[in-house]
Amino acid sequence: MEDFIPLTTTEGLEAGGLKAASLDDHEMVVARVGDDYYIADGRCPHMGGHLPEGTLEGTTLTCPRHHSQFDLRDGHVIRWTDWQGATLSIAKLLRHARPLRTYAVKIEGDQILVGPEKAPPVAS
Ligand code: FES
Repeated sequence: MEDFIPLTTTEGLEAGGLKAASLDDHEMVVARVGDDYYIADGRCPHMGGHLPEGTLEGTTLTCPRHHSQFDLRDGHVIRWTDWQGATLSIAKLLRHARPLRTYAVKIEGDQILVGPEKAPPVAS
């Protein structure tokens, strides 16, 4: 994806809100934080939770299924599920924490355009 492509509009997307969108069969989520917009994959990298149904607090997006949290600025994992103890350890062995893919955004009038995938966060 080299250029910016119209994805959706700003209609109905209030500050602090999430909106589902798709490009061909690729599900995405659009988030508005104040006057800034973010675009990410619409399915959670853990087990496919539908992220437009998640919650947004600042740039932190929480998956509705097992409550993993991602920072929409670069997709890095803040929390990998809300499981704890042995359950979390086993879960991490079976499915390593993976960042959420995020994309460049451009706004033109009421159009939200999606651009190239952003570089993945640097592992810490
Ligand atoms: S599917 Fe998103 S945290 Fe499990």
